[in-house]
Amino acid sequence: MSDLKVLIVCLGNICRSPMGEAVLRDVAKKRGVDMFVDSCGTAAYHAGEEPDGRTISTCAQHNIPIEHSARQIQTSDFTQFTHILAADDSNLRNLERVKPKNATAEVCLWGSYLDNKPIADPYYGGINGFERVYQQCLSLSNAFLDQVANDRHSQYL
Ligand code: 4NP
Repeated sequence: MSDLKVLIVCLGNICRSPMGEAVLRDVAKKRGVDMFVDSCGTAAYHAGEEPDGRTISTCAQHNIPIEHSARQIQTSDFTQFTHILAADDSNLRNLERVKPKNATAEVCLWGSYLDNKPIADPYYGGINGFERVYQQCLSLSNAFLDQVANDRHSQYL
């Protein structure tokens, strides 16, 4: 049993991070990596809501199962998770601001595992922005697992 526990974080927890959670879980499963994945927002505006319809339809197009109820970051996340990965710099700053002294999780920009690029907020744009978020989540999931996971099936990839 892996002790990797990863929390993907954006602002509202209805667009980027629930997609990131779904994609990372799917990529890990396909690579044979056992890990726990969750997501949350730095804000609480959408707490209790299901993911945005554009996130759900983009995941459906790529056959990625997605099911999540939005929630805000909480203090215990910083000790419950091994890695807390922020979608962009603004959310990273907000995480650093609420991080407790006894935090054990590594808190960083998800993009720091690949190209240091943020996942841009697609909320006020069209569906194409959600496809871009999907492609980024896929690249970032593989980059993250390349660095932190011992793939059981890596000899077959
Ligand atoms: P997310 O997108 O942070 O990727 O979930 C947003 C969702 C809602 C809002 C902004 C961004 N909002 O302002 O309500």
